[in-house]
Amino acid sequence: MRTQVAIIGGGPSGLLLSQLLMRAGISTVVLERQTRDYVLGRIRAGVLERGAVEMLHRAGCGARLAREGIAHEGCNLSTVNGMFRVDFQARVGEAVTVYGQTEVTQDLYAAQDAAGAVIFHEALNVALHDLEGSAPWVSYEKDGQSHRIDCDYIAGCDGFHGISRQSIPAEKRTEYERVYPFGWLGVLSRTAPAAEELIYANHPRGFALASMRNPTLSRYYIQVPLSDNVEGWSDHAFWDELKRRLPADVAESMETGPAIEKSIAPLRSFVAEPLRWGRLFLVGDAAHIVPPTGAKGLNLAASDVHYLFEALQGAILERDDAALDQYAPRALKRIWGAMRFSWWMTSILHRFPGQSDFDQKIQESELLQLETLESAQVTMARNYTGLPY
Ligand code: FAD
Ligand code: DHB
Repeated sequence: MRTQVAIIGGGPSGLLLSQLLMRAGISTVVLERQTRDYVLGRIRAGVLERGAVEMLHRAGCGARLAREGIAHEGCNLSTVNGMFRVDFQARVGEAVTVYGQTEVTQDLYAAQDAAGAVIFHEALNVALHDLEGSAPWVSYEKDGQSHRIDCDYIAGCDGFHGISRQSIPAEKRTEYERVYPFGWLGVLSRTAPAAEELIYANHPRGFALASMRNPTLSRYYIQVPLSDNVEGWSDHAFWDELKRRLPADVAESMETGPAIEKSIAPLRSFVAEPLRWGRLFLVGDAAHIVPPTGAKGLNLAASDVHYLFEALQGAILERDDAALDQYAPRALKRIWGAMRFSWWMTSILHRFPGQSDFDQKIQESELLQLETLESAQVTMARNYTGLPY
């Protein structure tokens, strides 16, 4: 088989890139290790920046998002001294959109189906070959048969545990990493959200976040030690701990119910360089991971796709190979912006094991600045709603 761009991974990055390329008349093949149902069932991100929303519109799959996405013009931060709101609209004239990653992937799959996309699920043992030459190719197995795809370029959209990044020789790779000493226990429940806007809570017992997907579906998170496992957290224990960490009036009036999904995610900051190796380009979680605080993961994947789409369009449609050189520097600038912001949000909101009284006072001072300084709110709001592309 032959295609112009082989895309490894059928998550949000891979599907969005494939959809944009196909609309520009460039052929793609997507190889996904899991089944479609598995990909669609993964509960992950929930907040989209304007840039990500615009990308979905450009890809021709923004209709349901426009109808069902909920604009949020601010968010709340809860501290030991009470709760305050950062007004994104007032500070930077922007808003974010609450719309789940599951909905984004569903819309992308629908658009890809309508466009006649070639997507192979349960593609196993994917391997990348001849990346440094002008004729790269991909091998994989499906239903016990071996297959080969010849292509011009390969987009590595296969997430943190994929093979694309590993296909760059280890001695040529630099990895920048911070692993945080805690995780997030997340619960999805068919209940009305606790508040109209998100609440990020700094509490002596640990961080908590009250988020949502729609008016009848809530998403909550609490900071937990990495040694905890999901089985150790009954629904009752989760609600009890969450309520302790949220403002008392919110906790009192909030609706609780059975968890329809419960999982623990570790927190990590990670960037791998280079983003380009010959004809291979790393995109999204394959190249970087942010801790979830601040909801940047999916949004960064969208901006990577934007830069790579422009680079590939230039190379393929205008025969401008120099366009490819622009991908890594443009993407990395924004990646490090989101790295800094999510690291900062994580550091001001969580309890770190062994946190000293000094560390504690600095954290309180950071939150006080955010509460009282307009300039601090402008910086926060600018980053939260999304740095420019
Ligand atoms: P992925 O979504 O990881 O997709 C990669 C795809 O590649 C997967 O479908 C995978 O099956 C496939 N794949 C992997 N290896 C191979 C292979 N060898 N061959 C073929 N296919 C392969 N972000 C937020 O903004 N907010 C959140 O609340 C949030 N919560 C998260 C919770 C968890 C548990 C995780 C893991 C991530 C979370 N994120 C969150 C991050 C966000 O979901 C990711 O940034 C986003 O999914 C990145 O999209 P992607 O397409 O680059 O990678
Ligand atoms: C969600 C996750 C986040 O990490 C965040 O900062 C905001 C919202 C969510 O899953 O809804």
